[in-house]
Amino acid sequence: MVKRAVVAGCGGYLPEKVLTNQDLARMVDTSDEWIVQRTGILERRIAAEGEFTSHLAAAASRAALGRAGMEPSDLDLIVLATATPDETFPATATRVQNELGMTRGAAFDVQAVCSGFIYALNVADNFIRLGQAESALVIGAETFSRILDWTDRATCVLFGDGAGAVVLRAEEGTGTAEDRGVLSNHLHSDGRHHDLLFVDGGPSSTRTVGHLRMAGRDVFRHAVVNLASVMREALATAGVDPEDVDWVVPHQANLRIINSTSGKLGMPAEKVIVTVDRHANTSAASIPLALADAAGDGRIKPGDLCLLEAMGGGFAWGASLVRW
Ligand code: ACO
Repeated sequence: MVKRAVVAGCGGYLPEKVLTNQDLARMVDTSDEWIVQRTGILERRIAAEGEFTSHLAAAASRAALGRAGMEPSDLDLIVLATATPDETFPATATRVQNELGMTRGAAFDVQAVCSGFIYALNVADNFIRLGQAESALVIGAETFSRILDWTDRATCVLFGDGAGAVVLRAEEGTGTAEDRGVLSNHLHSDGRHHDLLFVDGGPSSTRTVGHLRMAGRDVFRHAVVNLASVMREALATAGVDPEDVDWVVPHQANLRIINSTSGKLGMPAEKVIVTVDRHANTSAASIPLALADAAGDGRIKPGDLCLLEAMGGGFAWGASLVRW
């Protein structure tokens, strides 16, 4: 028998304010047609003044705990993935811990930008499989609206704010791909590509927060290659065929990246969860938000095999295979 980190519940939260492509066309030289054609995005949510990453994270966490039928006091661990923390320190996870009224266990942040949720899931899975935690809350939460250059049409149209969370609980498994829970995680990074996607500020370099900068075309090229490769790696490790996968849950950066990546693996569009049209790219929050969407409306059911994948700044990328 082996320990598995099984998904006990999943929840999401989106800020109230909707920013449409038409709204953006009044702010920069762009159009609904250009944005839809190049990205598949129709609208995104924007956090209100005074609404921080920790607030979005706490709301998503409450929803996930509710679905799991658990209290914050049942948790041993919080791992929060974000590139937009409330403050440089302490970890935004400790803010969420406090908001939830949880005073025991450990809480910390993980930073792997858009692939942050995969990294955080891997960390929490390791804690559970090693017996260091019996339960964990894994959160992806972002307020990218705060680090966008709202005069740069090439980037400001692509992102949105939001949060998603998953509660994991230890269960005994057989060690096969038939087990429920996180089956495997696959992480990669390559720091040579820093200049293609980064924020031009930070406490140690410029003492400012900075703005997101991106060479979109180059990022696109790398994303399709790296994501297809890490998805194949996940399937080969578990010894499962693409046909065995019930759902692909991709990082929601761009519909064209999602389509060409899943197309390379021969995954039919009906098996791919898409939220980028309504959420845009919410970085670390995009996968747990997509999970919350599809589990919430009954598409993802217990026993379904889900392949999660993401890539972002660093570059850092990864995939996880999870039986729901
Ligand atoms: N509206 C209108 N025109 C625009 C806009 C806009 N919002 N943004 C750029 N353009 C213009 C450019 O100025 C350029 O004009 P020019 O030819 O006169 O110079 C033209 O459109 C083409 O620009 P490209 O950048 O070459 O356009 P491309 O087809 O590559 O689409 C996009 C840009 C959508 C950013 C695409 O490259 C992409 O999706 N890249 C992936 C980036 C991404 O998703 N990053 C997220 C983080 S990483 C991740 O999550 C995987």
